[in-house]
Amino acid sequence: MRRHHRLIALSLAALAGAACLGAPTPLELELPAQFPPMHVPEDNPTTVEGVALGRQLYYDKRLSPDASRACADCHLQAQSFSSTGGVGVLPHVNLAWSESFLWNGATEGTLEDAMHMEVNEFFGTDVALLREPDLEELFRAAFGDPEPSTDRAALALAQWQRTLTSGNSRDDQYVNGDLSALSESEIRGRDLFYSERGECFHCHATRLFTDNQFHNNGLDAEVAGTGRAAVSGRSLDDGSYKTPTLRNIAQTAPYMHDDRFSTLEEVIAFYSHGMVYSPSVDALMQNVHEGGPHYSEQEQADLVAYMGALSDEEFLSAPALAAPVAAE
Ligand code: HEC
Ligand code: HEC
Repeated sequence: MRRHHRLIALSLAALAGAACLGAPTPLELELPAQFPPMHVPEDNPTTVEGVALGRQLYYDKRLSPDASRACADCHLQAQSFSSTGGVGVLPHVNLAWSESFLWNGATEGTLEDAMHMEVNEFFGTDVALLREPDLEELFRAAFGDPEPSTDRAALALAQWQRTLTSGNSRDDQYVNGDLSALSESEIRGRDLFYSERGECFHCHATRLFTDNQFHNNGLDAEVAGTGRAAVSGRSLDDGSYKTPTLRNIAQTAPYMHDDRFSTLEEVIAFYSHGMVYSPSVDALMQNVHEGGPHYSEQEQADLVAYMGALSDEEFLSAPALAAPVAAE
């Protein structure tokens, strides 16, 4: 039901897009059950028209200076807005709760700050390419002024990002009382995930499945100066990376910041018996000197199964999150 409200609001926005004359319409974002409150900056309230502009820009190649690529070329909805279009492409899901962005957290602050970085530094957007009637109309509807700017583009992209919330996986249905939503293997995997033998939940924490912190989870023995340490300069951050969310994790292969694992089976085998010691390795990486806690074959299969229960099919296929089409 919740998601349906969003769909209706967004498609009305698209309908209104061409003709709307009044002030932008506030968009009340309904959050999945048990999610923490979402912080929305006062100077960039979420509006129907702002989200419509952000969505258009996300899918629009004119955002790049030679009109060669769009955000969505690397961030594909069906893959939880990740892809294999680059190394370690991070998904766009529930980023409204993040305060540091990129694997090493080089960009800190709000989603607005992150989108400023993406537009101005990563893409180097040329505003001249945005001065076209269709986009000017969307800028006018969102900001009351048809003049495009990279600042407004970033604000609209941040609003759009706040609509990329995923919280309707089978695991959510289970948590919300539908005990038949998970198989027996998935329930065993879940129990292990939340146990002191598994330890997963400490870092892949809350309903966001990330603590939005940085950890060295034991991938490499030589870690000096890598990961978060490249930003902070602190040796205790050597080899530490932003904890990735596990939402829609079955859709985001390959895995880890350098894409070293192709499958979830490989990831779980790593946590079972493939971890290696380094001085900054997180204290939660149990038995790291022996590679890990050595899960049984059944335990590993159960953990893989549980990962698959974190996919939110509605999010991965919601029309409101897909590329806008003129006739919508
Ligand atoms: C060529 C592929 C590519 C394109 C195009 C692209 N990205 Fe990304 N994106 C990546 C990769 C790779 C990462 C991870 C980089 C890192 O952390 O070092 C990433 C990470 C991000 C993150 C950080 C997510 C997090 O969890 O911290 C955000 C936000 C983001 N991209 C937004 C955008 C936006 C907005 C656009 C369009 C302006 C865009 N990206 C275009 C490849 C791309
Ligand atoms: C100490 C914190 C911590 C613990 C405990 C932990 N993880 Fe992770 N996990 C991370 C970090 C950090 C990464 C990213 C590391 C990198 O790419 O360098 C990660 C990566 C992953 C990935 C790949 C995500 C992606 O998008 O590439 C999966 C899957 C995963 N963990 C599952 C688990 C499971 C299952 C457990 C329990 C057996 C677990 N994690 C325990 C911190 C942790």
